[in-house]
Amino acid sequence: MEFKGSPRLLIVSDLDHTMVEHGDHDNKSLLRFGALWQSEFNHDSLLVYSTGRSPKMFADLRREVPLLTAGIAILSCGTEIFYGDTMTKDHGWIDIISKGWNRAAVEEVAEEMNLKYQCDSEQRPHKVSFHVRKEESVHTMPTLLAKLLEKGLDIKLIYSGGLDLDVLPRAAGKGQALRYLLQKLKAEGRVPQQTLVCGDSGNDQELFSVDNVCGVIVANAKDELLQWHADQVGDKSHIFVATENCAAGIIEAMKHFGLEPNVSPRDRTVPLSVHDKLVPKADAGAAAREVVEYLLLTEQWLRGDISASEEVFRRLKFGLAKDSSRVCAWGTIDSPHKEIENLQAQYGSQRGKVFHMWADRVRSMKLSDDSWLVRFDKWERSDAGLTCVLTSAVLQSNVEFPNGLCWKLIHETWLKGYEGSAPVRK
Ligand code: GLC
Ligand code: MG
Repeated sequence: MEFKGSPRLLIVSDLDHTMVEHGDHDNKSLLRFGALWQSEFNHDSLLVYSTGRSPKMFADLRREVPLLTAGIAILSCGTEIFYGDTMTKDHGWIDIISKGWNRAAVEEVAEEMNLKYQCDSEQRPHKVSFHVRKEESVHTMPTLLAKLLEKGLDIKLIYSGGLDLDVLPRAAGKGQALRYLLQKLKAEGRVPQQTLVCGDSGNDQELFSVDNVCGVIVANAKDELLQWHADQVGDKSHIFVATENCAAGIIEAMKHFGLEPNVSPRDRTVPLSVHDKLVPKADAGAAAREVVEYLLLTEQWLRGDISASEEVFRRLKFGLAKDSSRVCAWGTIDSPHKEIENLQAQYGSQRGKVFHMWADRVRSMKLSDDSWLVRFDKWERSDAGLTCVLTSAVLQSNVEFPNGLCWKLIHETWLKGYEGSAPVRK
């Protein structure tokens, strides 16, 4: 969900090996970052992904890992920009990078040099991509560059991960795409208060040279980016080299640069009572925090990660107003209290299994002095697969609850059929 105001924080992050840690099958740090972003930033900040992936491979990744929906997606190594949930393409950007670009001429040289193309999906209108081994790159890159320049082409070569070689228009790339975006935001009067760029490999390098940004190179970064960083002279204080990998390194950088809040709800105990937390007055942030904490507590209860205490159960049960109701996708209205009672018996039922719950696209709207409309996607991944429930809820101010809010009405729509415990329709 693209935030329409002036972002308090703009995070521009690469995906593979930066936001997403491929070896981590639990997606621990990605979920930590996701919970932090949804509970504290989604309502007034902007998340941008900047990846070498094509739209197809970006969509593949979104199915594989619990990636939040970003406000803006810069794909194909800064040659394609998409906005919002609808992924509306920026044609103005295409016009800019098309000037002087000649794809056919690049292909001609590639054929001449017998270069090895990447798969078809990664060949894009303004990006020609190859695989070149590190040992060969020392020779191949200068030769290719010389040949392309000889033809009068206005291009640049980008080498990433010790294997991927991209040929792009010189006006494109992750850095140029971000400059374009920042200019656009400025023209709309939406200059971000702070910008953090995050990367791990060669194609991210340009991000760190954009004006007025701070940046994090995650601990697991590739040689080519670390070497570039080592070669920089002068003040490098705007670049932080993390000691933690991927999304954990991003959270670490938020702490380093004082970008607050920077403690994920997954890294602390969820407040169980109003005494655990001081809530002056419920605001848009409080509604988001309540959603994230409530789902997290449910996950922890089912996984048996927290104690099966009366106190925890009370938090789940009494977070719901006494007269609250739930409208289910199959056309019934019931009391969510019933579901919570079922939950009580299911304590620890997911222990040792693949099981996570997370919230995406959390956004809230003040309806009156004491009520909020909050909408979010509730995701659940288990052995049985992936489910998503589009949820709208009305939360009511009540100082006796941890975030100063209790749940009054919940309306659920399952994104894909009726799964899990839903009744079979006659
Ligand atoms: C992604 C893309 C690939 C590109 C690489 C580096 O892996 O799929 O085409 O070469 O990023 O930019
Ligand atoms: Mg990467």
